[in-house]
Amino acid sequence: MKNKIIELLSKNIPDIDKEELGNLLEIPPKPDMGDYAFPCFRLAKTLRKAPPLIASEIASNIEPADFLQKVESNGAYVNFFLNKEGLVKSILEKASKDDFGSSDEGAGKTICIDYSSPNVAKNFHVGHLRTTIIGNSIYKIYSKLGYHVERINHLGDWGTQFGKLIVAYKKWGDEASVKEKGIEELMRLYVVFHEEAKKDPSLEDEARAWFHKMELGDEEALKIWRWFVDISLVEYKRTYDLLGLDFDHFTGESFYRDMTDDVVSKIENAGLLTESEGAKIVDLEAYDMPPCLILKNDGSSIYATRDIAAIFYRKNTYNFTKCLYVTGQEQKLHFSQVFKVVELLGNEWAADSLVHIPYGLVSLAGEKLSTRDGNVIYAEDILKEAISKIKEIIIEKNPDLPNKDEVSKTVGVGAVMFNDLYNQRIKDVSFNWNKLLNPDGETGPYVQYTYARCSSILRNVGEYDISDIDYSFITDPASIALIKDFDRFPSIIEDAAAKYEPSVIARYVMDVAHSFNKFYTDNHINVEDEATRNARVSLVVITRRIIKDALALLGIGVVEQM
Ligand code: ARG
Repeated sequence: MKNKIIELLSKNIPDIDKEELGNLLEIPPKPDMGDYAFPCFRLAKTLRKAPPLIASEIASNIEPADFLQKVESNGAYVNFFLNKEGLVKSILEKASKDDFGSSDEGAGKTICIDYSSPNVAKNFHVGHLRTTIIGNSIYKIYSKLGYHVERINHLGDWGTQFGKLIVAYKKWGDEASVKEKGIEELMRLYVVFHEEAKKDPSLEDEARAWFHKMELGDEEALKIWRWFVDISLVEYKRTYDLLGLDFDHFTGESFYRDMTDDVVSKIENAGLLTESEGAKIVDLEAYDMPPCLILKNDGSSIYATRDIAAIFYRKNTYNFTKCLYVTGQEQKLHFSQVFKVVELLGNEWAADSLVHIPYGLVSLAGEKLSTRDGNVIYAEDILKEAISKIKEIIIEKNPDLPNKDEVSKTVGVGAVMFNDLYNQRIKDVSFNWNKLLNPDGETGPYVQYTYARCSSILRNVGEYDISDIDYSFITDPASIALIKDFDRFPSIIEDAAAKYEPSVIARYVMDVAHSFNKFYTDNHINVEDEATRNARVSLVVITRRIIKDALALLGIGVVEQM
């Protein structure tokens, strides 16, 4: 509809291109101001006339069209009133299709997305929860648009820290404690190493020597390292299971260890490698960035070297149109440097197709989150706490609900995810139990409750037939507002993808839930008259499906009762 109006406007206002007309076109705050409004202030300068005069001229020149009921000027605005029956019919015919919102925009294209990527032997904390939740949602959004997506977990599983861990394990650890306590014990050993190394700096050399052994493929070193990786993965997978998500590849930094020599030669052959205090770097002063470190003075590769290797590997293996990286803002410079080095190696595609997607911090808003030893907050514990809090509420308010555990899991985990995705990702997320679990707030539980309400309405109606709706029964403002929300779904998904911004979907599904609840307050569904009932039921059916699909794009599930 919007495009059709832009067409009509464009014929009367040839000086402004269609894109700008589209940006200027507004949705008025009240229905009596029409469905769309075009402000004429911007034209006053070029046409040298008062805006209200321009508005009334445009209004009378717009040619009649069957989708328009009327066009009027009101002050400086041209107000467009759509033909309601035509509007309702055209939207509902599209929205009632099962694949509403899907598209083939991405057909034949591959997106790589690098997210979650915790650091082995360290706990999976709240920061990693954000990259995991945001990355998973971006994966779902791109898949919905027909892209093929490769989900990559770039585990931090290589580097000198593993030399330190091996030393600490051999000196102060034992097999039984590591088996029993897992990551917790590995973190303890890491702390012990640093305390001891303060007293005895030669431990640092020992650690470097062990990491060097790892790089040379020493059996003993690699065996211990692999064990630490496996232990960590078991714990990470528990968190992924709770979140209900998975990856296509667990190719961590170690996966690229044999490819870094090639990266160094490439950089050297391109004449980009320079020496600085014994280390090898790429000078990026011309691009206003500090140099990108490629080899340390002991000749070992680093995080950035492995990231450069990973880009070449992924480009060759998956031929991506885009490779996305979801990490905290503090890695902005790292990615700018790495992307620039790849570009300077003669890869023009790097500038457009490598994208860093940063996000803000998690602030605890005075909340006491349960911690294990050493005050570390595990993502797993947060999710479990959310589940048990929801279960308490269910036991109190709805003791007869069947499958309480399953419902608590979907709602508890969903609440944490929704809280993470509801604001622009770059903003900090505050963590407040009362707020994020409140079924009357702007929360996951509120949206899931609206879904369950739709299900319950349909159960009460029993049999219905929505194959042949008489749209003339839908006229009230609340129904029209809800239908207009349906209409936005496809463009909302495109917008969320273009901005790498799941909050666009989260805000949208909240709008749909609000509009639905208003519609439900204003309209009885299970009325005597069959034609009216079917028309209203069709809105419940579509709302229910859109909420389910939109939540799925956030990685959140639904429940039939709660
Ligand atoms: N392991 C890193 C961290 O926890 C994130 C890795 C992000 N991905 C990458 N290709 N560098 O900070």
